[in-house]
Amino acid sequence: MTLSLRPIGEAEWSAWNTVDEEAFGTATPEHRQEIFRRNIEFDRSLGVFDGDLLVGTAATYSFSMTVPGGPIPVGGVTAVGVLPSHRRRGILSSLMTRQLSDLHERGEAVAALYAAEAAIYGRYGYGRAADCMVFRIPTANAAFTRHAPADPALRLRVVRPAEARSTFEKIYESVFERRPGLYARTPARWDGVLTDQESDQGGAGPLRAVVAEDDGGPRGYALFRIKASFDDHDLPTGELRLKELFGLDPAAYALLWRHVLDRDLVSHVLAQSRPSDDPLIHLLAEPRHLHALWLDDLWVRVVDVDRALTARRYSAPVDVVIEVEDTVCPWNARRWRLTADTSGARCAPCDDPADLTLPVSVLGAAYLGGRPLAALLAAGVVRESRAGALRELSTAMSWDPAPWAGLVF
Ligand SMILES: CC(C)(COP(=O)(O)OP(=O)(O)OC[C@H]1O[C@@H](n2cnc3c(N)ncnc32)[C@H](O)[C@@H]1OP(=O)(O)O)[C@@H](O)C(=O)NCCC(=O)NCCS
Repeated sequence: MTLSLRPIGEAEWSAWNTVDEEAFGTATPEHRQEIFRRNIEFDRSLGVFDGDLLVGTAATYSFSMTVPGGPIPVGGVTAVGVLPSHRRRGILSSLMTRQLSDLHERGEAVAALYAAEAAIYGRYGYGRAADCMVFRIPTANAAFTRHAPADPALRLRVVRPAEARSTFEKIYESVFERRPGLYARTPARWDGVLTDQESDQGGAGPLRAVVAEDDGGPRGYALFRIKASFDDHDLPTGELRLKELFGLDPAAYALLWRHVLDRDLVSHVLAQSRPSDDPLIHLLAEPRHLHALWLDDLWVRVVDVDRALTARRYSAPVDVVIEVEDTVCPWNARRWRLTADTSGARCAPCDDPADLTLPVSVLGAAYLGGRPLAALLAAGVVRESRAGALRELSTAMSWDPAPWAGLVF
């Protein structure tokens, strides 16, 4: 088996996509393939060939993703697949190594991905950086606390999603810089959010939406589908499947959730990805009825320690020497002094004794501000040589709100 690895050309798209689908065992409808193709950047989409046969795929999106302090360029890793006939021969490893060295050469200091299986990416230096929650809320038990905000100036407008796209775009533009993990959406990305053919509906009917607004304009939106049903006694058992809900302020946010939870003939709301600090947790009088499930959202890889650590902001002053272990990107494997406060950061190679020793995946896990490091110390993943150094770094790297991307790429 002689393998070669290179970016694919546009003419190879179809074969490349077929390998990806074979690897995932999926069959994507044509219109979704077309949206995927328009999102793909061919010069950043790699193929592994066994002779003439395409056997492996991986691609990178050029994202502008919010990190603590604001958006930076981030490589969004996607479409990682190996033909079943060629698995466990090192093809994934060759793709990951090439992709990370391309990112390094390009000066893109951070990569992020959604993992099909959580066990895959730690070996390549990715750390679990963001969590998400799945909520399944019975609407009969969804009263708010008496502290829920209300603004009499706010009203709801039922809209057709295709016609309200520019409103959604405007609201999303305003919120995406507020939360680490959210990334700017291209027109093709929006096409993916709003595509609404029968095969997109999962048996739950067309996309529906409401906009919260006042005389000054829109302040939030909720996008969802409703799977209507009735039980043997003719009682409504409908399920509302929430796709997105963004509010610019607490009152708009609460009103949108109230609407979603109060839709007639809906017995429960299924929200498949919400941030782990979703304010809804504090709006519900009985949050046990969230029936929350905790899952991983983004995995993050620090590609260049110094560039990545200076690109984000910090919550508190820190001055630590970190010994980074990194066998995949050897340029990171050394001691670095990180000096930062709330106004900026410096990170430079140094030869001083290490305060902390950690695998690069720990920096990825903490990078978006949502992973306290104490648990990693307790798990033995981080070693501390100067007492207090870990708490200092953990406090400085923590950030509000919690990271979450919420839209799989
Ligand atoms: C996951 C996948 C890409 C792995 O490709 P591969 O070429 O077989 O992987 P490699 O041979 O390079 O394996 C490298 C290492 O990862 C490990 N590994 C591979 N797949 C793994 C998995 N699903 N879970 C845990 N470990 C895995 C291998 O055991 C190997 O470990 P080692 O270095 O300790 O020997 C491939 O099996 C696949 O396409 N799966 C279906 C699609 C998918 O899940 N893609 C990931 C999308 S996020």
